Amino acid sequence: MKFLSALVVVATLAAKVSAHYVWPQLIVGGSNTSAWQYVRQTNNWQDLNPMLDVTSTDVRCYTSLESGTSSTISVAAGSTVGFTISGNPSNLYHPGMAKAPSATDVASWDGSGTVWFKIYEIPAIADGVTITFPATGLSEIEFTIPSSLPSGQYLIRTEHIALHSASYYGGAQFYIACAQVQVTNGGSGTPSPLVAFPGAYTGNEPGILINIYYPIPTSYAQPGPPVWPASGSGGAAPPTSTITTSPITTTTKQITTTTTKATSTTSSSTGSSTGTTVPEFGQCGGQSYTGSTVCAAPFTCKVTNREATYSSHAVFVLH
Ligand SMILES: *[C@@H]1O[C@H](CO)[C@@H](O)[C@H](O)[C@H]1NC(C)=O
Repeated sequence: MKFLSALVVVATLAAKVSAHYVWPQLIVGGSNTSAWQYVRQTNNWQDLNPMLDVTSTDVRCYTSLESGTSSTISVAAGSTVGFTISGNPSNLYHPGMAKAPSATDVASWDGSGTVWFKIYEIPAIADGVTITFPATGLSEIEFTIPSSLPSGQYLIRTEHIALHSASYYGGAQFYIACAQVQVTNGGSGTPSPLVAFPGAYTGNEPGILINIYYPIPTSYAQPGPPVWPASGSGGAAPPTSTITTSPITTTTKQITTTTTKATSTTSSSTGSSTGTTVPEFGQCGGQSYTGSTVCAAPFTCKVTNREATYSSHAVFVLH
């Protein structure tokens, strides 16, 4: 039996609480197919919640609680397919693939074994000063089925990793789905390297267990194998609508100082200071906050939006 697989990775940013989402529709020939028609209905199809345990079999297709059946659609090697994103906001996405063993109908295949390979990825970009998430804001992601991929039935697995709470083990959020395709007009390539799900990740990878806030990472390493084929001919170009703003929004909080000259003495006020100073990275303001708003020198108080979601996306294909 021959196994091939592929995977695609993307990185994105979204609002924390509302960023949960699913990948219900496969995009074929530029058109959205119906929800859960070719994509296996995932456990989170209603609650949109992420998968958190990379050692679970749910890291494969996230379908352990569902028994719905999906159809298989023909797609030509070399053509572009994709997944839509449904949720609020709909702005995160990633895909991947694996080939069903010979004589096995992909519709009844679980994707087990060391059979997955990555075909596309959109990683986060970090340089120690800023970290950006190019997949942010996308409502769908499209990628190319490598033209050298052998014909046959495959699962296409999309994976998005939200990194906003990834600084502790198990904090990274995985959004996963698998679609069933029949690849036609294929080539004679040999996808590699192959990985298994679970197995590909321990959860300790620097791209999964990562503090994206401080210090800003000097680089971002997308977890999993490299993209096949290495030339990158199998993947679509990265999205052009790259968001390059810093993911952490900061605005300066002004400390009001007033001076009165009613008498010969000058007095000043520094807001609601309690007389103590706030150390670096301490809280210095916010709703219902009653503590000191005076920072220890040389720091200044800034409003930091920690509600943002930062994530990474990948597509795997299994043959
Ligand atoms: C396909 O679905 C995406 C995501 O919901 C949506 O943004 C896009 O407009 C849809 N395309 C068409 C042609 O309906």
